[in-house]
Amino acid sequence: MVNKRGNFGSKLGAVLASAGSAVGLGNVWRFPTEVGNNGGAAFIFVYLICIAVIGIPVMMSEFLIGRHTHTNTISAFAKLAPGKWWRIEGIAGVFVAFLILSYYIVISGWTLFYLIESLCGQLQGLQTTDLCALSARLGAKASDNGAQAADYTQVFNDFVSNPWLPVLMGAAFMGLTHLIIARGVQSGIEKSSKVMMPMLLFIIGILVVCSFGMPGSSEGLRFLLKPDFSKITADVILSAVGQAFFSLSLAMGCLCTYASYFRSDTKLPKTAAGVAIIDTFVAILSGFIIFPAVFSVEEVSVDAGPGLVFITLPNVFNIAFSHLPWLGYIFSGFFYLLLLLAALTSAISLHESVTAYVLEAFSVSRRKAAAAVSIACMTLGVACSLSFGVWSDLTLFGMNIFELFDFTASKIILPIGGIIICLFTGWYLDRKLVESELTNGGTLRFRLFRLYYFIIRYVAPLAIAAVFVQELLS
Ligand code: TRP
Repeated sequence: MVNKRGNFGSKLGAVLASAGSAVGLGNVWRFPTEVGNNGGAAFIFVYLICIAVIGIPVMMSEFLIGRHTHTNTISAFAKLAPGKWWRIEGIAGVFVAFLILSYYIVISGWTLFYLIESLCGQLQGLQTTDLCALSARLGAKASDNGAQAADYTQVFNDFVSNPWLPVLMGAAFMGLTHLIIARGVQSGIEKSSKVMMPMLLFIIGILVVCSFGMPGSSEGLRFLLKPDFSKITADVILSAVGQAFFSLSLAMGCLCTYASYFRSDTKLPKTAAGVAIIDTFVAILSGFIIFPAVFSVEEVSVDAGPGLVFITLPNVFNIAFSHLPWLGYIFSGFFYLLLLLAALTSAISLHESVTAYVLEAFSVSRRKAAAAVSIACMTLGVACSLSFGVWSDLTLFGMNIFELFDFTASKIILPIGGIIICLFTGWYLDRKLVESELTNGGTLRFRLFRLYYFIIRYVAPLAIAAVFVQELLS
């Protein structure tokens, strides 16, 4: 039965696929934004603690649920707790993966557009926005840009509010994701991760070196490396927990689905640690790419918000490479390629958690299941994309469709899902089952088991509950 539904062929494949899920827009786009908003090095310090203390144990729990049951997330919970309400967690997980994918493809579509534009040289040489004015405007709202000559803010606003182009780009991105999913677990997901993840790490290496070489970059390094501990407030801690969850793809059954393809000799604690290390490494290196570059140009506000990657950075590239435009093409081309690869491997994992369910619950072929998910997601994706243009007036509770999806998914269902996974593993599942799964039936030594068990029963659920309440109140 296990072989029929496909397995990752190797341990390396399992680590790279799971790391591919974790490394995404959250690392290259959201992490630097959070660092900027929360005071630099002090935030990174707290973030690292969150990854080690909460992130890795929760990931191990998802892994053990997936690998023990060898089935999709909904059936996994139903199998471990027949007839109990715990199955709601599985249902929520699949539903949220679907919801996230529908807006994830919108940002990924923008990335694809920016990649094409930078390769065609369209991003170099536009009128540079006065950077201080830009950051002030981004702080206010990125949309009310006056009628200036074409600058980067305007390029961005014109693009996202166009009814067709972003949808087309999103559809192209969805097409790529679909092709990989339709090929199956080993020749689709595993193979593509084995190509894309090393490529991604290589590109990051090149960009870090380039970014360090920019004059004045030491200011950026200081911001990232010299913690000012007085900046650690409750809010900073809670933001770090939230970012750790998003970045590690936790609480939505994504990693649970991947773990259902792990072989029985895959070491769960080691794999979780490996994935967390790769994910954190990429996030921090993204900071090392972005901040030295931004600081080297002028005093750009580092908390420029969501526009950091699509408005501030092209601006920075343009100024930094004004005398060497070809280097600018390469640098920005590589940067958006990096973002695209990261987005693609994460989108694949979101798609797979839904496809695995459709495939197994309705007993249809993988191709049909994948096609149904792609089409349904794309339909929602169109609505998300249009919410930046013609449908921007369509709001509920003051949020447009895109913001509403993001809010429901990451601020409501994600934290609740995290708490449920902890309670499920820590309090409902038999301790012997948990220990046996983490030690591969007692053949491995896992010395930190008692610490793990304490965290999963008490520390993690309480910490997540704190984030949840804080985010709802803010
Ligand atoms: N972790 C991915 C990122 O950093 C996003 C992601 C993929 C995700 N799958 C997920 C987030 C599941 C939460 C849950 O961009």
